[in-house]
Amino acid sequence: MKIAGKTMRTIWLAADGRSVEIIDQTKLPHQLEFATLRTVEDAARAILTMQVRGAPLIGATAAYGLALSLHDDASDDAIARNAAMLARQRPTAVNLRWALEEMRAVLADVPREDRVAAAYAKAAAICDGDVETCRRIGVNGLRIIEEIAARKKPGERVNVLTHCNAGWIACVDWGTATAPIYMAHDAGIPVHVWVDETRPRNQGAALTAFELGAHGVPHTIVVDNAGGHLMQHGAVDLVIVGTDRVTANGDVANKIGTYLKALAAKDNGVPFYVALPHTTIDWTLDDGMVIEIEERSADEVLKMAGRLADGSVVTVEIAAPGSAASNPAFDVTPARLVTGFITERGVAAASTEGLLSLYPERRR
Ligand code: MRU
Repeated sequence: MKIAGKTMRTIWLAADGRSVEIIDQTKLPHQLEFATLRTVEDAARAILTMQVRGAPLIGATAAYGLALSLHDDASDDAIARNAAMLARQRPTAVNLRWALEEMRAVLADVPREDRVAAAYAKAAAICDGDVETCRRIGVNGLRIIEEIAARKKPGERVNVLTHCNAGWIACVDWGTATAPIYMAHDAGIPVHVWVDETRPRNQGAALTAFELGAHGVPHTIVVDNAGGHLMQHGAVDLVIVGTDRVTANGDVANKIGTYLKALAAKDNGVPFYVALPHTTIDWTLDDGMVIEIEERSADEVLKMAGRLADGSVVTVEIAAPGSAASNPAFDVTPARLVTGFITERGVAAASTEGLLSLYPERRR
């Protein structure tokens, strides 16, 4: 997608052919800054501190992180150690584990002296694969938006609500939840997005609004608690969110607050879609409630960052001194609340059968 008219990805190989460049998402939306990852520790830190975030992008970053580690030590032991270290950085998004398993499977068949080249090639393939997968999610999701637009008066806008950031900034390009939106906008459908601000880290206000605005998609930021009200008043035609992990029975882990949006959507008859690539499905689990939910620092709840009139970015305290805070980063939406999955292979019911209809090779 484009920033200031320039086509970009979120992660790419640097000109030296060795280090890796990323958009530093902790600086958005106030500054567009890039960071260079030179070591596996840099990659791990970028994932942990959320310089990169979003399930597909942390997978891609981990893949390059493992490639970076091989310059120092390409032994089997070191690969296992570094893969485990990278996987520990964020526990909920299964794409991280998926990408590392893909890397290890390739490296296992390659002699030690060829592993660096093989790892960089595989990491690049993971990135390219993500772009194509997200593009196809967009094509499949576009049909849903087209159907809704066809039921409206000419020129009447289609209102999509989204939570957190499952945009191109969370992937390598296109995004999952946003890909159908970008395609609808590009096709001339008057689409408008309600952007949940997504406390505590404000990925909606800071990132989704930033990237929609950069592409020219009309959008409005709302506080996280506004979604139910908007749905009650007919202001939301459909919800599309991303996900960090879908279990084999169709339960959905995503940014904290997603579950409440799904409940409100169910109560108001608003379609609630989850957009996902195959890399987000955890075929080893049959119940979303057993997914490990990342608990993050209380500081993210107790403090907020913002820009002052003079342009400086500061962090301020927003709570009574001494109060404790709890910060679960994700929640689980049961499959029964999900209207459908939008994947690179098509749209299906959020159920074991629905997933298997798209991925028949997973039938046991
Ligand atoms: O904590 P984050 O910002 O990494 O959480 C991101 C989300 O919850 C996204 O919805 C999810 O990773 C899907 S990204 C295509």
